[in-house]
Amino acid sequence: MFEEAQYFAPVATHDDGTVEVELATSHPGFADPVYRRRRNAIATLAVGHVPGTPIPTAEYTDQEHEVWALISRELAIKHGKYATAEYLDATERLGLPDDRIPQLQEVGELLRPLTGFQYLPAAGLVPLRDFYGVLADGFFHSTQYIRHHSTPLYTPEPDVVHEVIGHANALASDRYAALYRLAGGAARRVESDRALEFVSKVFWFTLEFGVMTDQQELRAYGAGILSSYGEVEEFRNMDIRPLDLTAMGTTHYDITKYQDVLFRAESLEHLEDVVGEFWATCDDESIARLTADAR
Ligand code: TRP
Ligand code: FE
Repeated sequence: MFEEAQYFAPVATHDDGTVEVELATSHPGFADPVYRRRRNAIATLAVGHVPGTPIPTAEYTDQEHEVWALISRELAIKHGKYATAEYLDATERLGLPDDRIPQLQEVGELLRPLTGFQYLPAAGLVPLRDFYGVLADGFFHSTQYIRHHSTPLYTPEPDVVHEVIGHANALASDRYAALYRLAGGAARRVESDRALEFVSKVFWFTLEFGVMTDQQELRAYGAGILSSYGEVEEFRNMDIRPLDLTAMGTTHYDITKYQDVLFRAESLEHLEDVVGEFWATCDDESIARLTADAR
C-alpha cells in the first residue's frame, strides 16, 4: 500500500444504498455521529457517477457553508502573503465563491473554458493509477464533503476545501494545469508499481506540497499547503531542500502532520524544466536509474 494513497475506501454499503467511508480514529469528526452521517451521505453521491454526466448536487447545510466562508476569508489573506504570483493570478481568473461551497459541477464549468479541466466526484479510494492517469485527459477526482467544523485550519484528510481552493485555483493556471497533465501522462506510461510510486512522490513534493522562489521570497504553490491556513503559516520554517528528482522520489513523508521537508524550485521555469521534463519523458528504466542514484 502506498503511503500517499489519498482517499479512503468505502468499507461497507448499507441497505439504503449509502456507503460507509473509513475514517481514522484521529480524525476530528470520528466521535461525532452527526458528522459521520453527513460525510457518508455526501460520499454516496459519487457512487455510480458516470463521467460526462452532471455531478449530483450536494445540499450543504448553513454550518457547512459557514466553514467554507471562514476558511476562504482566512486563506485569502494568507495567499496574498505566501502564494506564488501564478497561483494568485489563477485564483482571480477562476473566481470561486467565498461565501458558500461551490458544487463540483460548477467548479468544472468555471475551469473548463480556462484550461480544459473538469471535476469528477470521488466516494472513497481512487486507485493511484486512475487518480493520476485521468489528469492526462483533464479530469480531477475530488471529495465533496467538508472538514469538521471544529478544526477549520487543518484537517488530516483531503476535503472539498482542499480539492477546490487548493487544486482548482492551481488548475486555472495554464502552466500549472500543463504540469498536472504531464503527471497524468507519466502515471499512465510507467508500468511497475515502484515507478508509479516515484511519479506520485514527485507529485506530492511539487503540486501537492511544493514551494518556490517567487518575488524574491519563498512562496507556496502546492495545494496541500495552500488549503490549510494553519500549515501555510508554518512552511517557511520547515527543512527546505533544493529541487531534486531523486530526493523527491525517495523521501519518506507522513500524511497526517504538517510537512516538515519541502523542496524549493528556483522559479516556475525551473520547475517546468526539471519536473515537467521528467514527467514528459520518464519511463521505468529512467526511474530505476534515478532510484539507483539514491544509494
Ligand atoms: N491538511 C489539508 C488541509 O487542511 C488537507 C489534507 C489532508 C491533505 N491530507 C492531505 C492535502 C494530503 C494534501 C495531501 O487542507
Ligand atoms: Fe491534493
